[in-house]
Order: sequence, then structure tokens, then C-alpha cells
Amino acid sequence: MSLNLEQIAVYERVGFLALENFVSDESCDRLRARAEELVGDFDPAGVVSIFSTHEQTRTSDDYFLESGDKIRFFFEENAFLPGGTLRQSKARSINKIGHALHDLDLVFDNFSRSPEIKQLVSDLGIIDPLLLQSMYIFKQPNIGGEVTCHQDATFLYTEPPRMVGLWFALEDATLQNGCLCAIPGGHKLGLKSRFVRAKDGGTRFDIFDDSPWPEKELRPLEVEKGTMIVLHPLLPHMSRENRSAKSRHAYTLHVIDASVDYPKSNWLRRSAKMPLRGF
Ligand code: FE2
Repeated sequence: MSLNLEQIAVYERVGFLALENFVSDESCDRLRARAEELVGDFDPAGVVSIFSTHEQTRTSDDYFLESGDKIRFFFEENAFLPGGTLRQSKARSINKIGHALHDLDLVFDNFSRSPEIKQLVSDLGIIDPLLLQSMYIFKQPNIGGEVTCHQDATFLYTEPPRMVGLWFALEDATLQNGCLCAIPGGHKLGLKSRFVRAKDGGTRFDIFDDSPWPEKELRPLEVEKGTMIVLHPLLPHMSRENRSAKSRHAYTLHVIDASVDYPKSNWLRRSAKMPLRGF
């Protein structure tokens, strides 16, 4: 076991768990360097797609909806000047890379399928794991966008909700550069909505509970480089915009259990040629 019973009890009670020094500095730096290489090789001509949680049904274009089994690049909402040119360099304008880095890139594959992560996922009760989604999140200096309060199960829904979200701080995450914030115990409030594919080819939110989040209960999760935060699929969490001069790079991985139902209405899809794989 990599987790003790007390840690598992904390996770079940508050809906998250921060594990300091889970990732070595060298591994953090290796992922950062690889992400920079990928962005360097990315040619944005003709494929500019923006990621924003403010108008998510509008910004979910085909480039986004087809990214479940690809490596694709999404710009910050505030990356562009009114004329359409970038405010900052391309490397300082990307919001995130998603959503199959863990299957398509050797560096991210090796990191995501480490024995430590495999053990941790097993400790959390995922018996037959499948690596569903990965994202490299930049939270760029000056323009890093806010991610509004949400539950990951809204976007990656399984029945029953048997999934873990793993959030790796590749740099120190602070109040200044937009660290995660979460509502302790909020995973017991129930699922508020689902983001699903609509029949016309777009997306929509199915709302089950339109009451506002108790945002006064949000607590900042300031963590050092190398910390991993485990997130319950129903935990309400968010991150504020980054107006500081420092980036806040993070890598995230979502793992589900093969025994659960993963409805076709989920936005993230895999082609038959690239089925989900475990460790
Ligand atoms: Fe999230």
C-alpha cells in the first residue's frame, strides 16, 4: 500500500488528498521540457481552438471534441489581441494540451504508468484501471484563465462514479499563480450537471441541481512542486486566473474502473483503433 488507512479516510471524508513529494523534481522538469517541445512543434495555422470554462458549449468545437484520442493544443481565452494576433509568444499562449498524452507520447506514457501511480490507484479501490484522460495545463503568466467551480464527473461521467483524478503540481501552486481551490466535503453534495454531446453534434449541459456552489467554503490548496492532489470525481473545485508573472504548470490524469459504465454521451471518445488501456 502507498496510502495508509488514515489517508484513505481523509480522502473519503473531504474528497481530496495532497501527497507531498510524490513526484521528483527531475520528473517534473522532464514533463515540463517535453510539453515545451510539443508546443514548439505545434503549428497553429488554421487550427486555433480556445479553451474556456466560461462559455464551454460555444468553445467546444470539433477540434476539441475529437481530441479524446489525440494530442491537441488549446489557447488561453485571453491569448489574442482584438485583431487576432497573439499577445504573448505561442509558448506563453497555450492553455492546455489534451487529452491522450498518456497513450501517444512516450515521456507522458512512462510517467503516467509508473508503479507508484498504479499502486495509489489500486489503494483507492480502482481494481481494473483504465487511463481515460490526460491534460498538461500551463496556467500561463499574466493571461492564465479561471477554471470555474465544477465536478470532474460533470465532464467524465461513469455509473457508478468510480474514477480518480490525479493532479500533479509541476511547479509551486500558490494563491498568486492560481492554485486549485476546493470545497472540503463538497463531494457529498451530489452531481449537479453533466456535459454531454447533443444530437446536433454540439454539446450541452444537463442540469440536475441549479443551486449555486457554496463558494465561501472554497479553500485554496497551495502546494509545492512535486505534490500530487487526488480528487474525488464529485469534489467541487476551481482555480482562479493567473495574473502573476509566474506560470503554474500541472499535469492531470483521470483513471476509471473498467467495470463501470462509461456512457456514449460523454464528450470524450476513443476510436475503435485506440481503446483505453490500463497500466
Ligand atoms: Fe477539474
